[in-house]
Amino acid sequence: MKVRLKNGTEKHFRTVWMKGNSVYMINQPLLPHQFKIFKCKTYPGTIAAIKDMTVRGAGAIGATAGYAMAQAAIESLACRDETKALAYMLKAREEIRSARPTAQNLFYAVDRVFKAIAGEKNGIKAMAKAAVKEAMQTADDDANACRKIGEFGMEILEGRKNVLTHCNAGWLAFVDYGSALSPVYAAKAAGKDIVVYSDETRPRLQGANLTAWELFNEGIEHYVIPDNAAAAFMREGKIDVVIVGADRIAANGDTANKIGTYEKALCAKANGIPFYVAAPTSTIDVKCRTGKDIPIEYRSEDEVHWVSGVTESGKRTKVRVTPEGSKALNPAFDVTPEDLILGIITEKGIIYNSHGLSLGRML
Ligand code: MRU
Repeated sequence: MKVRLKNGTEKHFRTVWMKGNSVYMINQPLLPHQFKIFKCKTYPGTIAAIKDMTVRGAGAIGATAGYAMAQAAIESLACRDETKALAYMLKAREEIRSARPTAQNLFYAVDRVFKAIAGEKNGIKAMAKAAVKEAMQTADDDANACRKIGEFGMEILEGRKNVLTHCNAGWLAFVDYGSALSPVYAAKAAGKDIVVYSDETRPRLQGANLTAWELFNEGIEHYVIPDNAAAAFMREGKIDVVIVGADRIAANGDTANKIGTYEKALCAKANGIPFYVAAPTSTIDVKCRTGKDIPIEYRSEDEVHWVSGVTESGKRTKVRVTPEGSKALNPAFDVTPEDLILGIITEKGIIYNSHGLSLGRML
């Protein structure tokens, strides 16, 4: 999507891409104050970028993981012997799979690229070629799925102007277009007036830093609101619809998304406001029967103790906001039960929740 560069021009970027042996990505922790591209030359470097959230968001993590698998396949050529090369790639697959635990797209992408490698019977060069091709295709599929989510999702914005979203499920969280924000972008392109309320999303502030930056770039009216303000705005009639993304969706429709999503779903229900999840079908994990089966990532308590930003003079800094002796808990995701979700917007259409969501049929 669009990035307004410092020289006043606009340029289209994807969130992550691969060129030669390297993976390139928008350095997300620097946003919204600095726009920089981060380069990973080897697959361990790409894993590190997933772990430290240089790249984050389910679809973007997935594409990056697919590229990391392709890098490992290229690096395995140095082994010369096929058995050793396969052992190298198997080890890489396990390391990439353990980079982050919740986003289903990571497992979807790594397994998809590894399957392409295993299906190639003409030696390690052909395996590496197949891996790169499949990783590129996985990323393209993610972008296309998100574009379609925008087209299908526009119908829920008919007669509705004020959208609340939580965390960042825009294009930075995918390869392009985004999930929850894709219908917003499509509606805006169709000439509709939309206002987005973006929860700031403590502790990593994806809403304040990333969603707001995206909406600014796209010229969409938006307000960053404190995480604890959404219920009050709903009650005041300021919100017409809630759209959030998903990191993993269980077979029954229970949805893991950024911590705080469940609370917003409860608030929406209490105020009679429709609550939608937007996600490509690659986020659905039918091996998880319900949300109870979804692994929830716990991250460092330092993410709660310390807040990063820039000073008035633009210098990047971090400050501690809790007493030295306090402990913190930092679950990165929560699960919204399917009965609070009115529908799931996918690239295949909207699945409405009339009598429970049964998602196996979507795949
Ligand atoms: O921890 P993150 O930033 O990788 O979390 C992912 C998210 O941004 C959200 O939960 C998002 O709403 C869904 S991912 C498209």
